[in-house]
Amino acid sequence: MERWHEQTILYQIYPKSYCDTNGDGIGDLKGILSKLPYLQELGVNALWLSPCYPSPGDDNGYDIADYRDIGPEYGTLDEFKTLLSEAKARGIRILLDLVVNHTSDEHRWFQEARKSRDNPYRDYYIWRDPVDGHAPSDLKAAFGGSIWEWDEATGQYYLHLFSKKQPDLNWENPKVRQEIVDMINFWLDMGVAGFRCDVINSLAKDEDGNVVFGDRLHSYLHQLHTEALGPHGALTIGETWGLSPEQALALTGEARGELTSTFQFEHILLGRIGGDKWMPEPVDRTAFLDILAKWEYGLANDSYPVLVMENHDQPRALSRFGDPENYPYESATMLGGMLYGMRGIAVIYQGQELGLPNPVFETMDEYRDIETFNGYEELKATGQYSEEEILARLQFGSRDCGRTPIPWTTGKEGGFTTGTPWIKTQVDPGFTVEEQSADPDSVLQFYRRMLALRKSEPCMTDGAFALLMNEDGTGVYTRTFEGETVYVVTRFADTEAAMPACVPQGEVILQNYKDRAEVLRPYEVLWIKG
Ligand code: GLC
Ligand code: CA
Repeated sequence: MERWHEQTILYQIYPKSYCDTNGDGIGDLKGILSKLPYLQELGVNALWLSPCYPSPGDDNGYDIADYRDIGPEYGTLDEFKTLLSEAKARGIRILLDLVVNHTSDEHRWFQEARKSRDNPYRDYYIWRDPVDGHAPSDLKAAFGGSIWEWDEATGQYYLHLFSKKQPDLNWENPKVRQEIVDMINFWLDMGVAGFRCDVINSLAKDEDGNVVFGDRLHSYLHQLHTEALGPHGALTIGETWGLSPEQALALTGEARGELTSTFQFEHILLGRIGGDKWMPEPVDRTAFLDILAKWEYGLANDSYPVLVMENHDQPRALSRFGDPENYPYESATMLGGMLYGMRGIAVIYQGQELGLPNPVFETMDEYRDIETFNGYEELKATGQYSEEEILARLQFGSRDCGRTPIPWTTGKEGGFTTGTPWIKTQVDPGFTVEEQSADPDSVLQFYRRMLALRKSEPCMTDGAFALLMNEDGTGVYTRTFEGETVYVVTRFADTEAAMPACVPQGEVILQNYKDRAEVLRPYEVLWIKG
C-alpha cells in the first residue's frame, strides 16, 4: 500500500468559520470548495473537517444526530462528494471527524433508547440505577454538572462525559461496535481518506464512569482497524489527552493495528497553572522545545509524532506563546519553523498560516462556546474574581479564540460572509489572506516556503531527529538523512543571543529575517543545510 502518512500536511478546517457562500453567516462546503486553489497553493495535501454532520449544535457539531449525512447548514451529501473529487484532483485528501464516544441526544438511537428499558437501543448507551437515591458516582462532566443525568421517564441515569446532550455510547455492546464499523466503511468507500478520532481514549469506562486505558480500548480500536480502517489504508489521528509516549506507542505502533498516530498536547498546556485553561502563568519556553523533543525521541522508531499547536479547542498560538504586540511576524514564523522542522504528521489549523492572534471579546454576549459559558459559571461560583477578571480569564483560554471566521479580505466581515456571521469576525490590518498573499514577507508566504521544503527536502520528510541544545531561549536540533543534515535554529526570546558554535555556515534554506547575522535576533528561525 502507498506510504503517504508521514508526508501528510494536514490542514484543519472548522467548517462553520471557513467561508460562507449563501449569506446565512455560517461557513459551508461550497465555501471550502471555493478555497481549494488557496489550500493547494499553501501546500497542504490533506484536510481534516471538524464535524459537519446533522447536529443540534449544543457543542458546535461534536454532538452528532446522524453519522451518515451532512448538516443542512453545511450543504448536502452530493456537495460533499463533489468536494471529495475536486480535492482529489488537486492532490488533497479529506479526513472527517470521528466522534464516537458519544452521540447527540437527538440521534435516533438515543431517542429510541430513552423510550423504555426494554427498547432494542437501550444498551447502545450507559444506564445505571440510582445508588442510595443518588447518582452512581461524583464525577464531573467536562461542560459542568455530574456525568450522570437522571431520566425521569425510565427511572435511570445515563452517562455523559461532556454535555447532557452528548450521551456516551456503550462500547461494550457489540451492536454499537458493528454500527460504527459500518459507518466508517460508508465514508471510506465513498473516498474519505481517514479520520481524526475525537476523545478516542475515552471509549472504555469502568462501572463508575471513570475512563480507563487498557485492554478493552485496544481491542475496540483493533476491531475498527481490522474491519474498516486497515483494509482502506486510512490515516487515523487520535485525540488523546494525558498520554505518555509509551501509551501513545501502544495505540499506534505498526504491529498494533489500531491508530496511525495520536495528538500530544503537553506543550499546549504550558502557561496554564496545572493545565487549567482559565489560569494563566508565564510560559516556560525551554520546556516547549524539550517536550517536543521528548515526543520526537519517544516515537522515533515505530510511530509518527503529530506536529500541532492550534486547533478549534485552543486560543491562537501567537497569543499563547509568541509576542503579538512587538514581534507578530517573527514569533509566529519562529513557532512554525520550530514545530514543522520536526519529523511527523504536520497539522495546521485554519488561520494559523496567517499568524492570527486571538480575537478580542469585549462582553459575554460575544461568546458562543458551551465550555466558555460553563467556565464563566465556575469562575463566578468561586467568589474570588470580579466580573472584569473573569472576562480576562475567558479571553485567555476560551475555545472561541480559535473559532472566529477567517479574514479573507479587507472588506466587510473579512469577506467571510455577506450576511451576519454566527460569531464575530475580527479583521486586523495585515492579517487577511488578501494582504498576505500580496506581501512576500508575510506569515502566509513563510508557511508556503516552509511547507514546500517539507516536501522537497528528504531530510525534512525522512530525517532522524536529534536535539543538540536548548538553553536560555536558543534551541538547535537536526534532521539527518543519508549523510545530509538540516539544522533548525530557533531563538524563543525577544532578545539577541550569540550564534551557538554547533551551527555550521552551510546554506540557509529557510529564515524569517532578510539576511543572516553573526548573532541570533529576537524570534529568529533558520533552517540551514550543513
Ligand atoms: C473533543 C473536541 C471538542 C469537543 C469534545 C467533545 O475534545 O475537540 O471540541 O467539545 O471532544 O466531543
Ligand atoms: Ca452558509
